[in-house]
Amino acid sequence: MKVDGKDMRPIWFDSVSQTVKVIDQRMLPHKLVVAELRTVDNVIDAIKRMFVRGAPLIGVTGAFGVYNAIVELCQKQKRSRQHKNASDACSKKISAAVSDKDRAYDKACDDYLKRECQRLKDARPTAVNLAWGVNRVLEVALRYEQYDKKLMAVLQEACQIVEEEAENCRLIGEHGLRLIEEISRRKEGKPVNILTHCNAGWLATVEYGTATAPMYTAFDRGVDIHVWVDETRPLNQGARLTAWELGRHGIKHTVITDNAGGHLMQHGMVDIVIVGTDRTTRTGDVANKIGTYLKALAANDNSVPFYVALPSSTFDWSLKDGVKDIPIEERDPDEIRHVQGIDAQGNLISVLVPPQQSGAANHAFDVTPSRLVTGFITERGICEASEESILSLFPEHAGNIG
Ligand code: MRU
Repeated sequence: MKVDGKDMRPIWFDSVSQTVKVIDQRMLPHKLVVAELRTVDNVIDAIKRMFVRGAPLIGVTGAFGVYNAIVELCQKQKRSRQHKNASDACSKKISAAVSDKDRAYDKACDDYLKRECQRLKDARPTAVNLAWGVNRVLEVALRYEQYDKKLMAVLQEACQIVEEEAENCRLIGEHGLRLIEEISRRKEGKPVNILTHCNAGWLATVEYGTATAPMYTAFDRGVDIHVWVDETRPLNQGARLTAWELGRHGIKHTVITDNAGGHLMQHGMVDIVIVGTDRTTRTGDVANKIGTYLKALAANDNSVPFYVALPSSTFDWSLKDGVKDIPIEERDPDEIRHVQGIDAQGNLISVLVPPQQSGAANHAFDVTPSRLVTGFITERGICEASEESILSLFPEHAGNIG
């Protein structure tokens, strides 16, 4: 997507520095800062502290984390080779014993790589895309025995995932367009009011976003739309990120408090709700940013269609009961206590809101049961929130139950 006229993604591989670069989303919308992720620790830190966030983007970042792990392994191996060559030269023992030692070292390296991948997967618990991205690239890495081949194959796979996720979001936009166009026709061209929660935009994916993809597509095709943007406490992904994205694209939008949606629905001011998801079970239960469930309840009570947009990488094919089985991240209570913004001088500041000694609880996600979901917008089309309907679009996962 364009930022100040320049094509930009929230993550890319910089072929000059041979490193992974990301937008540091903590600073948006006030500052556009780019961070470099050179090591596995850099990747884990960026995911945990939410330089990068949003399920599909976390998946892609984890995939590049595997690349970083192999780069670090190469560096370790180079250092150990230099050490070995020095001692070989001294003892003049270049023998079969050395190559046996090498083979043993390779096995140890793969074990090390698997451990690093586990650390990456543990960085955040709810979005299933993280494990999906890491596992997919790890599987490729384990096919090769030489480091240079491993490295090339892993980089290629991570870049392939980036392009696939971008294309999936483009397709979600095409399929979701139909829903918005239908409402626009019914309203004889009057603005279609869409409500969204959190940021499921291009910053949370690679391009287009998931929930925002149908909005961008509809806007680009001349459909009159207006978006209600939930501010999304505590980290304000809606007010900071979704509003920034939509504004840059010229889409009319209004930021509202997290509690306003029900009131707007009661007064006919919302035509459709479209949200993203961090993990969706094969039966259609949806984990998404805390507060999504309340929007779904209000939508149900007011007969407002409630759609969830997602690429197939966000389905957890092994789970059936979202409320019981999806792990819900609990984050630092300080995120609740403090609010970040800029002061009159333009300085980024953080201020304390409740009394210093008050406790706070920060459950980052909730689960919306499938019965409250009107349908899913996926890269393969739209389906109902039931196992049968989901599997009719993704029949290859029919037997894939954990
Ligand atoms: O905590 P975050 O900002 O990573 O949460 C993100 C969300 O809940 C998004 O709505 C979800 O990942 C869908 S992103 C396309």
